[in-house]
Amino acid sequence: MKNPRQLLQDFQARFGSVATIYRAPGRVNLIGEHTDYNDGFVMPAAIEFYCWVAAASRDDKKLVIHSENFNETVEARLDSINPTNAKHWSNYPLGVADTLQNSGKRLRGMNLLISGDVPLGAGLSSSAAIEVATGFALLRQSGVEFNRGELAQLCQKAENEFVGARVGIMDQFISCFGQASHALLLDCRSFYCELHTLPPGIQLVICNTKVKHEIASGEYNRRRAECEEGVRALRMVLPEIRALRDVSISQLEKHCALLDPKVYSRCRHVITENDRTQKAARALYDNDLRALGRLMRDSHRSLRDDYEVSCKELDEMVEIAGAQRGVIGARMTGGGFGGCTINLVEAEATEDFRKNVASEYQVRTGLTPEIYVSPAADGVQQEGETSKARGLTKEYRLGNQS
Ligand code: GLA
Repeated sequence: MKNPRQLLQDFQARFGSVATIYRAPGRVNLIGEHTDYNDGFVMPAAIEFYCWVAAASRDDKKLVIHSENFNETVEARLDSINPTNAKHWSNYPLGVADTLQNSGKRLRGMNLLISGDVPLGAGLSSSAAIEVATGFALLRQSGVEFNRGELAQLCQKAENEFVGARVGIMDQFISCFGQASHALLLDCRSFYCELHTLPPGIQLVICNTKVKHEIASGEYNRRRAECEEGVRALRMVLPEIRALRDVSISQLEKHCALLDPKVYSRCRHVITENDRTQKAARALYDNDLRALGRLMRDSHRSLRDDYEVSCKELDEMVEIAGAQRGVIGARMTGGGFGGCTINLVEAEATEDFRKNVASEYQVRTGLTPEIYVSPAADGVQQEGETSKARGLTKEYRLGNQS
């Protein structure tokens, strides 16, 4: 983890002034995958991996952004921000600055030093962490009023429009609203949410397959388009639906002849995953860990077979984990095509889990995995500020789909 004092010193050495430090977390998703952009349900938790931003305002209208991870500096004028070449790290902070400006937030020029320890391209939302940390820093330093919900949405907009990845709201939302020791059930249509305490004695164990996922690559956007195609076709007989969120599994079965077989499978994943996610929240609430484990297993199978976003390495990792002592549940987490699995493991079994999974995975795939244990963390904050109520709406009730 980055030492904030070190980051301040680095900032002083580079820009010759004092700075304020902000940090935003990455996330794991316990369940509810590829449902957010279908107006559905997700249940992520923020983790203790962060993007750190040291910031101090300037007297002109310039942004000077240095990344410690890439050892590179970019500069832009606030009134003419353009994307750098495709896939460049700077598109995330520049995109956020541009989107904030375009939404009427008047930003000051700023020096920013960015350093992150969220593994890149591992499905743990390093992108949302850099967006939210930068956005929070820019707004706070500029003295602009905002709320976290707005920040999450503007960061998502930046990723959709400036970076070009049509991601949903989950990652930015949890990076803003995460709360220590809790997972968050979010209704991505109404933004109502519930915090669910994670069971004591259970740890979040994240296994990185070390196969890089490429979220901006075509597959993610293609899945989204397939879901939209499903909605278009189903609307011919169900004109009231707005998203797959509104379709029941029996309606899907009844009208399956209208859908291309691939599109049908994609829809089936989304519809059943929405159901599993609400049931998983119920299981957490009831402390029914067996039920939770089964739902995680079924989620993985659905992502593998119906949504086709898993890969050989993720499947191996989940299978190996499932055979270990003390494992409540295991599944891939995030966009897929590589990246990480999330495992709920009894604390006293975690050390054995780590050892056994690492060696078995290496034997089966020839790859050396990374395995992290992280408590659920708080959302974005200024370093040194105590975490306080996040203004969450709690009116959403289990089972109420409206
Ligand atoms: C990525 C996106 C999220 C979500 C997940 C899949 O993490 O950023 O919006 O769609 O994939 O659940």
